[in-house]
Amino acid sequence: MEKAIPLDKFIEHSLYDKKKGYYINKNPIGENGDFITSPQISVHFSEMIAIWLVGFWEKLGKPKNLNIIELGAGTGEMMYQINKSISSFKQFKKSCNFYILEISPELIKIQKKRNGLNKIKWIDNLNEIKKNPSIFLANEFFDSLPVKHFIKENNEWFEKYITKKKNKYFFKNKKRKLGEIEKILGEKITKNQNFIEVSPKSIKKISKISSIVKKNNGGILIIDYGYLEKKMSDTIRCVKNHKKVDFLNNIYETDITHLLNFNFYLRKFKKNLDKVKITTQGEFLIKMGIFERAEMISKNLSFSKKSDLYYRLQRLVDNKQMGKLFKVMFATNKKNKFSMGFK
Ligand SMILES: C[S@@+](CC[C@H](N)C(=O)[O-])C[C@H]1O[C@@H](n2cnc3c(N)ncnc32)[C@H](O)[C@@H]1O
Repeated sequence: MEKAIPLDKFIEHSLYDKKKGYYINKNPIGENGDFITSPQISVHFSEMIAIWLVGFWEKLGKPKNLNIIELGAGTGEMMYQINKSISSFKQFKKSCNFYILEISPELIKIQKKRNGLNKIKWIDNLNEIKKNPSIFLANEFFDSLPVKHFIKENNEWFEKYITKKKNKYFFKNKKRKLGEIEKILGEKITKNQNFIEVSPKSIKKISKISSIVKKNNGGILIIDYGYLEKKMSDTIRCVKNHKKVDFLNNIYETDITHLLNFNFYLRKFKKNLDKVKITTQGEFLIKMGIFERAEMISKNLSFSKKSDLYYRLQRLVDNKQMGKLFKVMFATNKKNKFSMGFK
């Protein structure tokens, strides 16, 4: 029997192992991949993000140097469409330093190919960005970071580990002290909580990003699936060929994601930033004017192209599809009187 490893280390290995990791050697995103994301569904999604960026830049007082950092850019489609959409906002475009933080060498190649003419700096550490006001964009980034599970049973806490026997993987719980778990969480666990799903990597990123924003101004826009209730639950899901599968025995071959507990994210961002807003993806896109944009575009389209366009938008905003499960979170400094896309 091999040594048991914590759940997050298993996920990290399965997704990001330098040789065999799921994200390292291939592009899993797109109609022909394992899953599809909003920038692939409709270009108008990225256009709305571009308009939001221009609006925020104006409210920041049109700084001459602004960092725009995309976290985990997938195929680079959103970055490409943003650059295309802002081409008529010359002053804004001139002010922007674009960065992509990306872990996958294969996806970096695809991002570079897609963004051939755009001026972007690829980084692997947030310390590499200039000391300017900074806007971070994270579409389905945080859900791809590994999580730990802690379970309370008979008043004792355990951590979920994975062990291997005869070439098969199994879960195994190991005892943990309450104080150790609270240290990882950075907060006390209330009595009625008996399950914790947490990503130490996300906590580290939130802390880094929010301290940059606090110091140099700017903000972060997170778009991801998740829930608002304080109580945490086991939300891990694994997707292969657009279908859910068991991740334990599909190592290196499936995406392993989880839903964000936005209540926890809110508390973490509030440690450094005093303005945090949350809405659903549907409300955000509708407020940003995605349907008005579609109306303008569709005037001269054929019936089939028009129906395809509205079918795609519906997928993004419909409450039964991505509209409600996907949330949009904006964290910034209170002095920034900007809330475009939010109530
Ligand atoms: C689910 S994909 C989303 C891609 C893209 N944002 C989209 O919406 O299509 C997650 C992305 O985050 C990247 N990623 C995951 N962990 C990362 C890390 N620690 N640092 C940088 N990029 C990471 C993955 O390689 C991938 O590009």
